[in-house]
Amino acid sequence: MTDQTATPRSFSASVPLKGRIAIPGDKSISHRSLMLAALAVGESRVTGLLEGHDVLATAAAMRAMGASIERSEDGEWRIHGVGVGGLLQPREALDMGNSGTSTRLLMGLVASHPITATFVGDASLSGRPMGRVIDPLGQMGADISASPGGRLPLMVRGLAPAVPLSYRLPMASAQVKSAVLLAGLNIPGITEVIEPVPTRDHSERMLRGFGAELDVEIDADGTRHIRIRGEAELKPQTIVVPGDPSSAAFFIVAALIVPGSDIIVTNVGLNPTRAGLVTVLQQMGGDIELRNARDVGGEPVADLRVRHSALRGIEIAPADAPSMIDEFPVLFVAAAFAEGRTVTTGLDELRVKESDRLAVMATGLAAIGVQAEESADGLAIDGSGGDPLPGGATIAGHLDHRICMSFAVAGLASRAPVTIDDIAPVATSFPNFETLLDQLQKDL
Ligand code: S3P
Repeated sequence: MTDQTATPRSFSASVPLKGRIAIPGDKSISHRSLMLAALAVGESRVTGLLEGHDVLATAAAMRAMGASIERSEDGEWRIHGVGVGGLLQPREALDMGNSGTSTRLLMGLVASHPITATFVGDASLSGRPMGRVIDPLGQMGADISASPGGRLPLMVRGLAPAVPLSYRLPMASAQVKSAVLLAGLNIPGITEVIEPVPTRDHSERMLRGFGAELDVEIDADGTRHIRIRGEAELKPQTIVVPGDPSSAAFFIVAALIVPGSDIIVTNVGLNPTRAGLVTVLQQMGGDIELRNARDVGGEPVADLRVRHSALRGIEIAPADAPSMIDEFPVLFVAAAFAEGRTVTTGLDELRVKESDRLAVMATGLAAIGVQAEESADGLAIDGSGGDPLPGGATIAGHLDHRICMSFAVAGLASRAPVTIDDIAPVATSFPNFETLLDQLQKDL
């Protein structure tokens, strides 16, 4: 069956990318800004919020549970929170669209409030596993009935007071960590998450910033014990959201592979738990220079100057995966232009993202003429040594924004156009992706 509403778009060999672009707000930080502000008592203000569909789904859900959330004309968001413990019963199902982060974090919030909420989502989200949050939240006392396989639609019946838990993460997931910590906000006593492999730490930084009592103890082997004390009182904040490194990634790789390119990407968040791609691309020979390093909203940020470069294949250690987990699709594209072989392993988590990113990337890359070998937990890619790719195929994006943007970037250095069957999913995380690309192609 073909989707009548799909918007296909082709991307062809590009002129050199030139000029300067600012990257929109970080998706992870934007979700958390809305959620925590909605639980504070008083008015918080947020600037630089990512206005993509995923974050707007979080805003709608927090409104449905009692918070007042408004956007002023100058783009500032004002949020009046209900206080921890004050979430109201939503009247209708919470529509999470494509957003796994909204779903899993909000399930955590609902789990320790005396309310019931039903979560629904699109076809991609409805195929993703929620058992990873159902398990700990169930142990805390929430009653969760899910569709077969622990999937959406599902209903969370919260419990207040719920039971504090010490939970060791069975997989490296910031969403699971955050769901448990957010549930802990409204549970008397200490809730602990034990994290053997560090994942993005925005929840920890922001919970502290809002005034929660949270401490982190790190064992000799690097295992983190993150403890939050409930019932917390959150104080309203003024937040400036830094630019999203996961969005910057597409233009960084585009500039590296399109001959003659020389761009500056401003406002790129470089929290060490997120900055893995930049390091790996530099190790591959990418000319990426950090300028004007500074702090925005408690997060390290810099402007990046990126120039077309000859890349070399690399072996990426599984331990490096969490700090670039969302960047593998576009890293695979960079690898397709490198001299020699790039090998990745330990990427099982990529199979349960917005699509099975290992399978979808392997199939798509093969369709545009790249040698890509899929294993159970990674891809091995033999690069072109900098030559353009053959291109000339239509790629199924599978409702996965990052797949769509990765193949768009590949098209910019391919002999024949690369067509994305539906470009609409890009708006979940990067609504002005096409506009910024246009800008770099016109050197505005
Ligand atoms: C996110 C965590 C990651 C990431 C996602 C955003 C977050 O997911 O892939 O895009 O904001 O906590 P996992 O927790 O499933 O690794």
